[in-house]
Amino acid sequence: MPAPGGNRVVAVTGASRGIGAAIAADLARRGFIVACLTRRGAGIETADAAAVPGRYLNVRCDITDEHSLAEAFDRVASEAGALHGLVNNAGIHVEAPSHRMSSAAFNEVMGTNATALFAACRLAFPHLVAAGGGTIVNIGSFFDRIGVKRNLAYCASKAAVGAITRCLAVEWAGKGIRVLDVAPGYIRTDLNREALDSGPLHDYLARRIPAGGAGTAEQVARLVGALFSEDLPFLTGETIYIDGAQGIAH
Ligand SMILES: NC(=O)c1ccc[n+]([C@@H]2O[C@H](COP(=O)([O-])OP(=O)(O)OC[C@H]3O[C@@H](n4cnc5c(N)ncnc54)[C@H](OP(=O)(O)O)[C@@H]3O)[C@@H](O)[C@H]2O)c1
Repeated sequence: MPAPGGNRVVAVTGASRGIGAAIAADLARRGFIVACLTRRGAGIETADAAAVPGRYLNVRCDITDEHSLAEAFDRVASEAGALHGLVNNAGIHVEAPSHRMSSAAFNEVMGTNATALFAACRLAFPHLVAAGGGTIVNIGSFFDRIGVKRNLAYCASKAAVGAITRCLAVEWAGKGIRVLDVAPGYIRTDLNREALDSGPLHDYLARRIPAGGAGTAEQVARLVGALFSEDLPFLTGETIYIDGAQGIAH
């Protein structure tokens, strides 16, 4: 039986580490050709790199630079033959009390998490149309629908991801392009593993998350991989939460 990926080509932004690296590796295991769009151009930089070598195309790309994004998609389409999908994973997080957060800091978070994500969708669009349709998965956050102290810019940017996803899904459905928002809760990555596995944050999350604690990057990756692999043309525009029910718990 052919692999679900069927050698279709999916670009993943921020594939160097964390959730992006896990998504790139999962897609490669499923038989996709994965274009790893990263600032250093060195592809996956974590242990995930060992998964299915030979299925990656490493491309240097800073998502806040539209030239860099346009060049990256052109290069993927010409070297891999087409672009069938995009995972907008790259993102930044800034924490500050709102009364002390500068507009520059707010704009920086919105610039990466919302404006650059929209630009990536728009610049990928002609390639997806040329491929006869495709799938875009935006990585949001369950912070998109709750109020979080010291996280105003991040929450606003992830709410924008949900809105961008819905608008593009409606506009581009006629072109055979699905747009989805996968919104994780607390996810263990190399950067936060220590804080999430011990100490006060661990104890707080164990009480606060109905599923019992933080999730893993691999679970988010499996969800994204499934959205690309399964034949679900009627599923588009939705925000799919993967947060152990934290966002809906009283
Ligand atoms: N971890 C969580 O608990 C959690 C929860 C909800 C949502 N998320 C979302 O999931 C996504 C990934 O998070 P993570 O925890 O894996 O974050 P991370 O470990 O901090 O990794 C962030 C990734 O984004 C890349 N990046 C940042 N700015 C970029 C730019 N201008 N151009 C290209 N790449 C850029 C980084 O590249 P470099 O290696 O070059 O820095 C890195 O690959 C983000 O959108 C985040 O908001 C995470």
